[in-house]
Amino acid sequence: MIGVFDSGVGGMTVARAIEQLLPRYPLVYFGDLARTPYGSKSADTIAAYSCQNTEFLLEQGAKLIVIACNTAASIASDLLRQRFDVPIFEVITPAVHTALRCTVNGRVGVIGTRATIRSGVYERTIKAQREGCQVYSQACPLLVPLVEEGWLDKRETKMIVRRYLQPLKNNQVDTFVLGCTHYPLLREIIQARIGKKVQVIDSSAALAAELRDYLDQHPELAAGLAASGQPSRYYVSDVTEAATAIAQRIFGRPITLERVLMDH
Ligand code: DGL
Repeated sequence: MIGVFDSGVGGMTVARAIEQLLPRYPLVYFGDLARTPYGSKSADTIAAYSCQNTEFLLEQGAKLIVIACNTAASIASDLLRQRFDVPIFEVITPAVHTALRCTVNGRVGVIGTRATIRSGVYERTIKAQREGCQVYSQACPLLVPLVEEGWLDKRETKMIVRRYLQPLKNNQVDTFVLGCTHYPLLREIIQARIGKKVQVIDSSAALAAELRDYLDQHPELAAGLAASGQPSRYYVSDVTEAATAIAQRIFGRPITLERVLMDH
C-alpha cells in the first residue's frame, strides 16, 4: 500500500491526485486531526509527530510513504529518510520542479503555513536549482481555518486572500506555488486575486506524476504495492463533522474516516 499522511484531511487533495493517476495502488491514509494544525507548532513537535505517523502507516502495511503535509515535509523529510528504510516522497520537490519549468521571469511566489515559510524550504530548494530565481514567500495562517470552516467562497475569505497576496502581486511573480494542503480548495479565488496570467501550482498533481515515474522505474516495488488486494483505508486521530465534509468534498464521494488513537 501507498502510505500518505497529513496533519488532517487537507492532504486528501494529494491522496486524491494519486488515486486518479494510479488507481491500481491501494492507499492507507493517516490524518492527524487530534493534533492539527501543525503549521503553528515547533519544529521538534512536527518532527516527532511525523515519525509517529510514519510508524503507524508502516504498521498498516505501507511500503512507501508520501508526506502530503507541506509543514511536515518542510521540517521532517530528511529525518524520515534517515530513520525509515522505505522510499519517502514529499510535496515540496515536485512543486519546485513544476515551478521552475513554468516560470519565465524567474519570479516565484510561495504561500504556506507559518512553519513552512519560516523553514525557508521553498526558497532554498528553488535557489539550489536555479540561482538567479527570486522567491517571494508569504505565510497565510488564516487560510487553513477558513477552509476548515468551509468558507471557500465567502467575501471575507476573498478579502483575506487579497490582503495576503498583494505583496506577491506587487513583486510581479509569474508562477505561484500553493504550499499547503488546504489551498487547492481556494484555488479559484487565489487565481482571481493573483492574476489570470500567473501559473498557479498545486503540488498534488506533480507529486502523483513523480510517483508514477518512480514506480515505472521500480516494477518490483510497484507489483508489491498493487498486490496487497486491500481496499484503501482512511485513518484519522479524531473524527469531526467538518473533517468528514471536507473529505467528501475532496473525493467527491462519501469517505469513511476510521479513528485511531495516537500517543501524545
Ligand atoms: N497540512 C498543513 C500543510 O500543508 C496545513 C494544516 C496544518 O497547519 O496542519 O502545511
